[in-house]
Amino acid sequence: MESNSVSDESPAISVRNVTKTFRRPKAAHGVNALDGVSFDIRANSFVSIVGPSGCGKTTLLRMLNGLIRPDSGDVLVDGAVPTPGPHMGFVFQSFRLMPWRTIRSNVAFTLEVHGVGAKECAEKADYYLNMVGLRRFAHSYPAELSGGMKQCAALARALIGQPRYLLMDEPLANLDAQTSEFMQIELMKIWRKHRGVVVLVTHSVDEAVLLSDQIILMNPRPGRVAEILDVKLPHPRWSYDARATPEFIAMRAYLWSRIKRMVASDPESEFYLRDEAIVGETAAIQG
Ligand SMILES: Nc1ncnc2c1ncn2[C@@H]1O[C@H](COP(=O)(O)OP(=O)(O)OP(=O)(O)O)[C@@H](O)[C@H]1O
Ligand SMILES: [Mg+2]
Repeated sequence: MESNSVSDESPAISVRNVTKTFRRPKAAHGVNALDGVSFDIRANSFVSIVGPSGCGKTTLLRMLNGLIRPDSGDVLVDGAVPTPGPHMGFVFQSFRLMPWRTIRSNVAFTLEVHGVGAKECAEKADYYLNMVGLRRFAHSYPAELSGGMKQCAALARALIGQPRYLLMDEPLANLDAQTSEFMQIELMKIWRKHRGVVVLVTHSVDEAVLLSDQIILMNPRPGRVAEILDVKLPHPRWSYDARATPEFIAMRAYLWSRIKRMVASDPESEFYLRDEAIVGETAAIQG
């Protein structure tokens, strides 16, 4: 479990010593959201970013998409400063579907805004709706879909641009446990078919271990990379009970114990030194 590992091949995404402070009007101090963050992401890899609330996961993902820039340091995607566009699929936690458009038209929107003709838009939208199991709902409106179906539509909308990079911010957080498990399998299958780089921000340690080749664990205040872990479970992970393997169980327990310690030792956390089990563990570690 080596920190800030650098791959041999040239990385698809390179983050070097990135710092970001959000200034608030009238506040004496800004929020130090990211501080000295560095990592590389290999081509065709599935990477998750995990860590307690407020450790800068969303800020980092928005930087990879070019939506915000670092105060200092560099973010390079394919060796260049990133810019938003169809090559960068972004899935928001809150679906962000347009209620007045049909599902097909929501999905086609990604291409429409880039001047692609109506026929091609509709054909491609149907192709990706089919991929996420929503072909029959092409003419429905978002309000007629369940939460899981809306999430699938949001995924199709990101995939239609055939992104080389798929960036997802807690895409399954609003789903019930069962739908979320099915969606995890869908994500694995789509990634296997589509390839490219996937960067997933998730609060679920299970989800991170199940889906990822690499996990970037962050600590909060300021947001820093705590550790980068490789997940060596063989693919495809839907073809066997990956969650029952000793590797999965050990990694899940390790990550969860580190996150618990971070939260229990954060004075700004509502769980700060409250849970006796965590306090005991934290005290032992802090000596
Ligand atoms: N636009 C902003 N203005 C001011 N502060 C911000 C802004 N965006 C983020 N922050 C602050 O930066 C820190 C990191 O925020 P960020 O949203 O990246 O965390 P996160 O890890 O995604 O948290 P969560 O798990 O709760 O989604 C937080 O303290 C947050 O309050
Ligand atoms: Mg977030």
